[in-house]
Formats: sequence, structure tokens, C-alpha cells
Amino acid sequence: MATATRSLLKLMLVHIFSLVVSVWARPVTFLQDFRITWADSHIRQIEGGRSIQLILDQNSGCGFASKNQYLFGRVSMKIKLIPGDSAGTVTAFYMNSDTDTVRDELDFEFLGNRTGQPYTVQTNVYVHGKGDREQRINLWFDPAAEYHTYSILWNHYHVVFYVDDVPIRVYKNNEAKGLPFPKFQPMGVYSTLWEADDWATRGGLEKIDWTKAPFYAYYKDFDIEGCAAPGAASCASNPNNWWEGAGYQKLDELQARKYRWVRMNHMIYDYCVDKSRYPVTPPECLAGI
Ligand SMILES: *[C@@H]1O[C@H](CO)[C@@H](O)[C@H](O)[C@H]1NC(C)=O
Repeated sequence: MATATRSLLKLMLVHIFSLVVSVWARPVTFLQDFRITWADSHIRQIEGGRSIQLILDQNSGCGFASKNQYLFGRVSMKIKLIPGDSAGTVTAFYMNSDTDTVRDELDFEFLGNRTGQPYTVQTNVYVHGKGDREQRINLWFDPAAEYHTYSILWNHYHVVFYVDDVPIRVYKNNEAKGLPFPKFQPMGVYSTLWEADDWATRGGLEKIDWTKAPFYAYYKDFDIEGCAAPGAASCASNPNNWWEGAGYQKLDELQARKYRWVRMNHMIYDYCVDKSRYPVTPPECLAGI
């Protein structure tokens, strides 16, 4: 075979191979796919490594991150939050491009509360370094009683945050209207448990009760399907990735109904209507879902 043909063939093979491997397909496990980023001593594997326990005490919180970064796809985890008096604690699950001033980030933050008072879920969306897009809902169940699934779907059409099968937030791709959308930077998957009693619960009025420490949150069933870096860009441009499919390009009727139900009954803060903060409504709020 002529050298040119051979190297062309090799190039094609490499290309095909990279398309195949960069779509993340095997089940994700904590040991293989994540690393501890903060306080080894405060993250424990339990149930034979099927679940992990995060610990917050007066010495430290803790955190972990995926080893890989992903461009588009869906990330989900089952989380059981700190029971009882969790005021002043924050459990976060988010994606982050780790690129400083042009950072893209998609956040779930669970703000603890006094016994019997509802947890708050705060979401935020950073695009190209700009965030300040907080929304808050309260949950319609006790998130410390059982595991619930929290997921982020991210494709070329929108970003959707889900609690179980209920969409709680949609950030639509409105590039056609000149609005920014995260599209170029792969993001890692992160989680942390920490103390934030200067702001988290009732704006910082409720302090952590350290006599109740240590505090525990639990995670299991890590699921990541997306385009893993390196090779993420060519993988992500493939319209046949399942998360780009017709069923994922907008909320279907049932999902849209659930989303309206959350907004009507469980939304407690929306930056879009916070006139003291934004006298002029941010453009993405007007562009609709
Ligand atoms: C905690 O409970 C209070 C009282 O029900 C509520 O106003 C608040 O939104 C809850 N959540 C947080 C994080 O403060």
C-alpha cells in the first residue's frame, strides 16, 4: 500500500475510533470516574463502593469531581440530603468548565433548613463568565428521607434541570436572538458539601448548629452520558447523539405541564422578576422557553 493511502487509512481509523470512544457509554463508578478534590478523610465509600457518604464537621467539608470533562449530554446522580437540622449547610452538584473569566457553569445548590422547614434548591447558569441568574424553588418532598434523582440535560437546544422526572428550570438556546449559550467548553462534574451559614438559610439568619455535627449526605448511581474530552468537539457535532434527538429538543406536553406546576407552586425566587436587582429585565427572561 502506498504510504499516503496507508496514512489516510490510519487517519480515518483514528477518527472513527475517537468518535466511538468519546461518547461516554460505560456505567460510571465513583472509584474509576471521580477524584476527591477536598478532604479525603470526609468522603467514605459505603455499601461496597456503590454509594458514598459526604461528611461535614467543624474541621472540614468535602468535595469530589469527575476525572473527565464532557461536552453536552446528560448527567445525573441520586442524592439523599442531610436530615433534620441542616440549616447553614449547602450541598452542591454542578458542572463547570473551569475556565476562570469565560467559565460556563450549571449549578444545583441544596440549601439546608431547620428541622421541619423545607429545603431550598437554588439553580444558576453561568455562560461565558456571566452568572447571577439564580432561581430558587422549595421541594415538594423531604429530600433527606430517600434518594432522589437530580439531573442536568444539556444539548444544542437547551439546558434542563430535573428533580426526578420534573423539569425545574430551562435555559434555552437563544443564540438566534444574540443571547449566549454554553456550546464550546466541556465541563467537569462536581459536588461539594460545605458550610455557608453567612447566606444559605433565610439569608444567613439561621446559623449552623454544630452540636448536631457531623452532617452526612449520600450519593449513588452516578450516570454520565456525553462527549468526553479529548475529542469532545467532533463527538458533540454528531446530531445522532441521543440527547440531541427529537424527544429532547423541547419539553413535551407532560413535562411542560410539570414545569408550569413547579413554577406556580414551588418557585420562591426568580432573578427574572427581581426588579430591585434588575430594573431592566434580563433579555433571556423575555426570550421565553
Ligand atoms: C427555610 O424555612 C423558611 C421558613 O419556612 C423559609 O422561609 C426558607 O425559604 C427556607 N429555606 C431556606 C434555605 O432558607
